[in-house]
Amino acid sequence: MSSIHAVILAAGQGTRMKSKLYKVLHPVCGKPMVQHVVDSLDTMQVSNVVVVVGHGADKVRETLQDRVIYAMQEEQLGTAHAALQAKDALADKAGTTLLLYGDVPLLSKETLSKLLAYHEEQKAAATVLTAVVSDPTGYGRIVRDETNEVSRIVEQKDASDEERLITEINTGIYCFDNQKMWDTLRMVKNENAQGEYYITDCVAILREANEKVAAFSAVDPDETMGVNDRVQLSMAESYMRRRINEMHMRNGVTIIDPASTYIEADVTIGSDTVLLPNTVLKGNTSIGSDCKIGPQADLTDMDVSDTVCISYSVLTHSKIDEGATVGPFAYIRPQTHIGPHAKVGDFVELKNTIIGAGSKVNHLTYLGDSEVGQDTNIGCGTISVNYDGAKKHKTMIGDRSFIGCNTNLVAPVTVGNEAYVAAGSTINQDVPDGAFAIARERQTNKLGYAVNLPRKQSE
Ligand code: UD1
Ligand code: CA
Repeated sequence: MSSIHAVILAAGQGTRMKSKLYKVLHPVCGKPMVQHVVDSLDTMQVSNVVVVVGHGADKVRETLQDRVIYAMQEEQLGTAHAALQAKDALADKAGTTLLLYGDVPLLSKETLSKLLAYHEEQKAAATVLTAVVSDPTGYGRIVRDETNEVSRIVEQKDASDEERLITEINTGIYCFDNQKMWDTLRMVKNENAQGEYYITDCVAILREANEKVAAFSAVDPDETMGVNDRVQLSMAESYMRRRINEMHMRNGVTIIDPASTYIEADVTIGSDTVLLPNTVLKGNTSIGSDCKIGPQADLTDMDVSDTVCISYSVLTHSKIDEGATVGPFAYIRPQTHIGPHAKVGDFVELKNTIIGAGSKVNHLTYLGDSEVGQDTNIGCGTISVNYDGAKKHKTMIGDRSFIGCNTNLVAPVTVGNEAYVAAGSTINQDVPDGAFAIARERQTNKLGYAVNLPRKQSE
């Protein structure tokens, strides 16, 4: 196969989105559309990827960084004009150029490979990826001649009533012979309903020059949908969500209710893990094998090891080691590390905190900026008093210690190994290894006093 280059058009404003966010940056399953397009080229030996930017150029650069080459389209005069801006980057190259739109995010690697193979096989100057859809509204229609060859593409706004009945549409994905593409693009005129330079006119121009234009029909028309407004955005989201869920199920993950399970594009999950309803896995979350996640678990950028159980909880930017359990109703905030076989139970909030192997924080506790050793028990209602109004301070607790219920640990403070803190204590001094600390008012019993206290009379 000859060398392959790619041009991704991503300079349009996306007016129909009615959004402050630039269209190709709207996420589908957590990842900006244009990034999906760039990622689809990942395994395909593409020598140069040029992204044509215009509206929101800086933001697109921030998203894609130096993975691609950028070409600037100062004024959005149409898709042919946009493609021409990539010429400087590719003018002297031989081979095939894949042309893609940044707002067609669902395309699979398999379809792209098939398209390229077909283009090579047909020895065409250009090959258009087409799809037959039930509702072609808004798309360019594929017009075929009497021998069934593609003769031109007509945009919805320029189409006659008869042409509008055509259900074979232009997906916006093409293969071009790189050299022929630049020559053809220069010949495109803007005499149409929108006064724009349409890349779709390249088809008719090539045909008039007796060049071969092939058409390859995508297997699954859903994956070629373009996103122009929020209705299409939600359709793209549900299509991709289904595809992601099915991929994980095929890899050995049980998803009890795919309809209520939301997994973003870059999440990884080990086999024999079970996802219960209403589980949301976002960002760079990775989940090990044999875990039980959900119901109602919301994880962002989490690193979860094998055999972990998480239910009814919200967790972000943290790490959980094997065999640990979290929830129900825990809130795990960034930079937390829950050690192997540790247990974090109901109404526990952890932030920037390490819980050692086998330790238990079972109920109603807040630990922030804290380190807990191994096999330590943190009693119900323990609070790390980590903030003095200006600064955060650390709480350190050793191994095999016991913190009694309703303890305040006024940081900075250290409780040693095998230490014991009595329930209800407010600890503001370090507790040495093996010590028993009690810091509360002594109890006084006033004998017989209770009978004199006012009581509500029973009727
Ligand atoms: C386009 C096609 C249409 C096809 C549909 C598939 C043309 C003329 N029409 O229509 O045949 O069925 O896509 O989804 O190509 N862009 C620029 N600069 C510009 C104009 C557009 O970079 O000056 C980019 C946009 O950011 C977008 C892509 O090109 O990513 C397509 O533009 P859009 O306006 O969405 O074209 P459609 O009307 O959807
Ligand atoms: Ca579009």
